[in-house]
Amino acid sequence: MGRVILTGDRPTGRLHLGHYVGSLRNRVLLQNEGNYDRMFVFIADVQALTDNADNPEKVRQNIIEVALDYLSCGLDPEKVTIFIQSRVPQLHEMTQFFSNLVTVQRLQRNPTVKAEMALRGFNADNEEDNRRGLPVGFFTYPISQAADICAFKSTTVPAGEDQEPMLEQCREIVRSFNGTYGPVLVEPEILLPSNRVCRRLPGTDGQAKMSKSLGNCIYLSDDPKEVERKVKGMFTDPGHLRVEDPGKVEGNCVFTYLDAFCEEGDFAAFWPEYANLDELKDHYRRGGLGDMKCKKFLIKVLEARLGPIRERRHAYEQDIPAVYEILRKGSEAAAEVAAQTLYEMKEAMKINYFEDTSLIAEQAAKYRQ
Ligand code: TRP
Repeated sequence: MGRVILTGDRPTGRLHLGHYVGSLRNRVLLQNEGNYDRMFVFIADVQALTDNADNPEKVRQNIIEVALDYLSCGLDPEKVTIFIQSRVPQLHEMTQFFSNLVTVQRLQRNPTVKAEMALRGFNADNEEDNRRGLPVGFFTYPISQAADICAFKSTTVPAGEDQEPMLEQCREIVRSFNGTYGPVLVEPEILLPSNRVCRRLPGTDGQAKMSKSLGNCIYLSDDPKEVERKVKGMFTDPGHLRVEDPGKVEGNCVFTYLDAFCEEGDFAAFWPEYANLDELKDHYRRGGLGDMKCKKFLIKVLEARLGPIRERRHAYEQDIPAVYEILRKGSEAAAEVAAQTLYEMKEAMKINYFEDTSLIAEQAAKYRQ
């Protein structure tokens, strides 16, 4: 069995540095290594609608933003099939069959679903709870996510660690399907970034996660002035009041971001007084190193990563119809693969009535006078 790589993002906003270090950067590396049979990256618009039913316009506007972010990071449509989830209708048929193999109780234990239920309340007798209750589509989206993965017999899903419970649930569905009907589907594995800090990049305010709703994101498409402003306002060590004071690097965003973004050569290019990040951290811990100096270095490092991405984005922005064409072609190619898997599923479930010549012959013999 070959290696099939697949991953996706919800089109609810432009992609940010958390997406970049958590998965995007990895995808481009994987693409360029070429060690796979096929690679898919998709825009999960159906999943985005599970908690944005009242705002399809937001989803509609963000398809192109996510596509531009993909292309600007270096995903190459010649090597990777880039598609839109809703343009692969087979996924929804699969979701329906999978939903018969998953219990309500199991979904309630999925950490993402569980957290959302706690947030919205789910006392069915309480009118207010009901009004802001959890949409069924959101409740079952782990099942639909399993279909996204299984439709392509994906083996490898590059994602941040927040997706691990979804992968676990997907593997259970695969085992259940294969055990019930026959060995059609493949159990996927998550591929986490090897660098720990990249698995969940904190927001610029030091909160656990970069998230649009918290307003603590640096976007891939931010201009240099915005990046500079956001880094200058970044959370550091609140105990580091004067330059002479010893400082903490743990939980200090500037150092976390340097851990995530620094590459060989950055010190030589931008701050030759230090040989590497360890030396810089030592100095900061000892005291005598100001936050602003470190922030200025981080701004240069980020600019070195984001500059080429921004440039590529600008080029693609000049030909939006061509980007939609990439998505259309990718969606058609993805639907072909998904149709093949769906066919095999129906065959295993023995609901491929018209192709099942033995079924027709048996029943014909039974009823023939
Ligand atoms: N749940 C993912 C997110 O919120 C998006 C997603 C949908 C996904 N289907 C997927 C990721 C399949 C990996 C594989 O970012």
